[in-house]
Amino acid sequence: MSTPSSEQRYQLVDSSTGKKTEIKALAGTMGPTVLDISGIPKDHGAFTFDPGFMATASCESRITFIDGEKGVLLYRGYPVEQLAENSSFLEVAYLLLHGDLPSQQQQEEFTNSIRYHTMINEALLRFFNGFHYNAHPMAMVSAVVASMSAFYHDSMDIHNARHREIFAHRIIAKIPTIAATAFKHSVGQPVIYPRNDIDYCANMLHMFFSVPCEAYKADPVAARALDLLFILHADHEQNASTSTVRLAGSTGANPYAAISAGISALWGPAHGGANEAVLTMLEQIGRVENIPKYVEMAKDKDSNFRLMGFGHRVYKNFDPRAKIIRKMCHEVLAQMGHTDNPLFELALRLEEVALKDDYFVSRKLYPNVDFYSGIIYSALGIPRSMFTVMFAIARTVGWVAHWQEMISDPGMRIGRPRQLYTGAQTRDYVGIDER
Ligand code: SDX
Repeated sequence: MSTPSSEQRYQLVDSSTGKKTEIKALAGTMGPTVLDISGIPKDHGAFTFDPGFMATASCESRITFIDGEKGVLLYRGYPVEQLAENSSFLEVAYLLLHGDLPSQQQQEEFTNSIRYHTMINEALLRFFNGFHYNAHPMAMVSAVVASMSAFYHDSMDIHNARHREIFAHRIIAKIPTIAATAFKHSVGQPVIYPRNDIDYCANMLHMFFSVPCEAYKADPVAARALDLLFILHADHEQNASTSTVRLAGSTGANPYAAISAGISALWGPAHGGANEAVLTMLEQIGRVENIPKYVEMAKDKDSNFRLMGFGHRVYKNFDPRAKIIRKMCHEVLAQMGHTDNPLFELALRLEEVALKDDYFVSRKLYPNVDFYSGIIYSALGIPRSMFTVMFAIARTVGWVAHWQEMISDPGMRIGRPRQLYTGAQTRDYVGIDER
């Protein structure tokens, strides 16, 4: 990709030697400028230091834009609120992958390509028999996705655009089937094969909840709720799991292996694993009367307790996705007859109490995408252990879009950060008899 223009200039001056380095400020189409520090090691023999990448732009991208101060999220320039209102998950998938909304024909071709690639190799199905019944579904899904690199290594020339497109369609089509198979394995039910006559989210509910003994028809309210949640979880700029996919992919690794690495990164409770942790936390809090005690624990550094689903590295305002999901909770719970959902009531009260507390307000800690999503997944009958898998299904689209953007960039280089070394200085080996 062509590097954005740079008018502003900064200077780095070594006060001991007077040596100066000019630093270019690169301006994007939106958001803060970035300082190109690539010349510093050569000019000054120094690295920049930024643990946790709090202030580092790792790449140039055209896919998703976030303004954390204003609570803005754009997919290829379109506000996520408008896509949630008007689009569908597969249309958003096309948008993220290709950069523009599809024409009617493009959408039909893309939807059909996904529709007719949902089955997985029968040998992959047998992998699940090797897992204990109570294996965490994220462990099963990340393992089976990685194993896809053993099946498709022959048609995976990452520098061939058609191979990259086949990979994209295959993984987006098959990840729900793999997820549903993990769920069926965990409940000891027979695997339900995907159907080609129903849409993406209804098919997923079918594979999750259908049983051979009786007919099953997905509730359209549940299918639409799932589709909306997937739109909201589809991409989010350079988050930890997407950065993991980029780093793994930058070595030229098989893309299924890179996606599997992203699934593993997403699993952590500080990231996508938070949606599962929120429900556990709400059940631990139990009753509205206990909220003050837990809010105090969350403020106490020694307690190791955090309000899961609260806070965000980028959003220092409401996560726009959390606002949409909270509104969805009211609608979906009412439509599905769960109006008196005690966990939702507890979550609403917890948000209200926390957002009046200076500890959270001063640190700009607001509910994030994970705070309410589990309430809806539960109402759809999806077990808590599957919440992060649902996140992974949606985020697969974002991971693939970022992987494609990186691999198709002629300027791509392997990612290889440096460090501040504070270990032992050079010393000679000492024989064991002399230690
Ligand atoms: C996702 O990056 C993405 O885009 C991620 C994501 C995506 O779509 O990909 O949006 C999805 O991962 C959402 C985040 C889900 N995680 C959680 O809900 C877990 C709970 N939240 C935190 O662990 C935390 O807020 C993070 C991990 C989300 C952000 O961590 P940061 O940016 O490193 O912030 P921090 O830990 O340095 O916190 C700053 C301060 C600290 O207090 P002080 O040292 O200033 O006194 O805020 C406090 C923290 O102790 N704090 C919290 C808190 N989150 C931060 N205190 C209590 N409860 C919390 N949840």
